[in-house]
Amino acid sequence: MQIDYSDISKNYDDYRSFSHSEILKLISFGNLKNGMKILDLGCGTGNLSASVLDFIKVDMTGLDKSFPMLKKAKAKALQVICADADYNLPFNDHSFDVVIGSYVIHHIKNRMSLIAECFRILCDGSLIFLTSSHDQIERLHPVIKEFFPSMIELDKKRFPQLSELDYLFKGAGFKNIKHKELIISNIPIDMKYLEKVRNKFVSTFYLLTDSEFNEGIEKLEAFIKNNKEPVYRDWRGTIILGEK
Ligand SMILES: C[S@@+](CC[C@H](N)C(=O)[O-])C[C@H]1O[C@@H](n2cnc3c(N)ncnc32)[C@H](O)[C@@H]1O
Repeated sequence: MQIDYSDISKNYDDYRSFSHSEILKLISFGNLKNGMKILDLGCGTGNLSASVLDFIKVDMTGLDKSFPMLKKAKAKALQVICADADYNLPFNDHSFDVVIGSYVIHHIKNRMSLIAECFRILCDGSLIFLTSSHDQIERLHPVIKEFFPSMIELDKKRFPQLSELDYLFKGAGFKNIKHKELIISNIPIDMKYLEKVRNKFVSTFYLLTDSEFNEGIEKLEAFIKNNKEPVYRDWRGTIILGEK
């Protein structure tokens, strides 16, 4: 099922952002340097681009197919292009030093063709995706798992296995493929968290039936109100990188 980001764009920035430590890990693991030409594929509201630009001076272009998401990115003074990454990318060969795609690969129908396109538009640089592995998806906090029971299976259907991405990277010609885990610990499951879930801060919530979502919200609210001490969850993602 396709997710409509027009609606999500309204409050995406209120609930989704990158921490300094995640950005610094990305810069160091991706060997991002001042002066590089970088494409932020599926840039959305430009959160990742803007955060990277807080640390290094690069020539950053954001591409996304959702015009409302891009409008927010443009308001952050980013250079943006509206295009669908399921088709050939609108750039010449050897246009970028690095292509980064954060939480976009699970939306792409023809991943083989996109990864080949990324290889084509790169100079001798790297392709970097931020995503979640199936192992990380399965490690959803028991409370969220209990209240929204379909989430894990839905996400495992949407997100490619890391082995699939490794295979596609290799097939396109990328070498020295490596992974790094990103972990954000001690996220409290509190009223602020409930607000994020209520606002469907991750797109999987849009895929639940109304009854599962509404019942889950009621149970989560009761759970938070009944707990004197907040319960904490972790968030885990993976950076996958291949060199041209
Ligand atoms: C989960 S958001 C991630 C946004 C941003 N990269 C971030 O990490 O905050 C996914 C984004 O991918 C975009 N997207 C999905 N399919 C796409 C496609 N075929 N071509 C271009 N963008 C796409 C959506 O419009 C949305 O902005």
